[in-house]
Amino acid sequence: MTVLHPLRLGMNIDHVATVRNARGSAYPDPVRAAKLAEEAGADGITAHLREDRRHITDADIDALVEHLSVPLNFEMAATPEMQAIALRHKPHAVCIVPEKREERTTEGGLEVAREENSLAHFIAPLREAGSRVSIFIAADRAQIEAAHRIGAAVVELHTGAYCDLHAEGQFDARDDELKRLTEMADFANHLGLEVHAGHGLTYDTVQPIAALPQVVELNIGHFLIGESIFRGLKPAIHEMRRLMDEARG
Ligand code: PXP
Repeated sequence: MTVLHPLRLGMNIDHVATVRNARGSAYPDPVRAAKLAEEAGADGITAHLREDRRHITDADIDALVEHLSVPLNFEMAATPEMQAIALRHKPHAVCIVPEKREERTTEGGLEVAREENSLAHFIAPLREAGSRVSIFIAADRAQIEAAHRIGAAVVELHTGAYCDLHAEGQFDARDDELKRLTEMADFANHLGLEVHAGHGLTYDTVQPIAALPQVVELNIGHFLIGESIFRGLKPAIHEMRRLMDEARG
């Protein structure tokens, strides 16, 4: 039986593929991790097919589409190549992210306000194909308004700065960032956008974000894959789920 969670957990499996690719081997298999995550209560699986294929590969996406029972959130840059792949697979959701070759991870949110016309054209066929289009953005009013205008169904608010400030012990600045996330989650929700959040979340930082009532999905990857070295993947996910549910009350 599928359990419906008021706050969904999207498990990002990219870094299982990072470990695999470090040795050029066939293991660990990100699809196996995705199936275990499903069993552990993940409500969806997120995978980012980067332009340079540094972790997830085209074959991984094919296999995920074939084997997943929960929705796939296909993360991608706004390029014609990725659009064609998304249109071929028609995943449940497509999350548009900025991508720079030299970055270690997705560093900032998408500049929607500056690219409004081209992004509106870019996402139109994805919407027509039935995918829910999510835009990964900073918690910024102008970006949220632009995401709304181009017809996105979802905004995913970037929690990276909040998590970094926490890790650096800059608690006043962290609290300011949390306030901004809180206000912008509310603003996006009032515009009728579904609100997701993610990036850099850990057991220490997840609860204030999980407590925001407008946020209905968290996407978490790197920390959970790291934690699974010590606890195993399923227990690592169970603990995240427990913390999310506790924060949600
Ligand atoms: N959401 C988006 C849009 C991302 O790009 C990432 C990182 O790939 C995540 C969530 C998950 O971030 P992390 O791996 O730091 O938990």
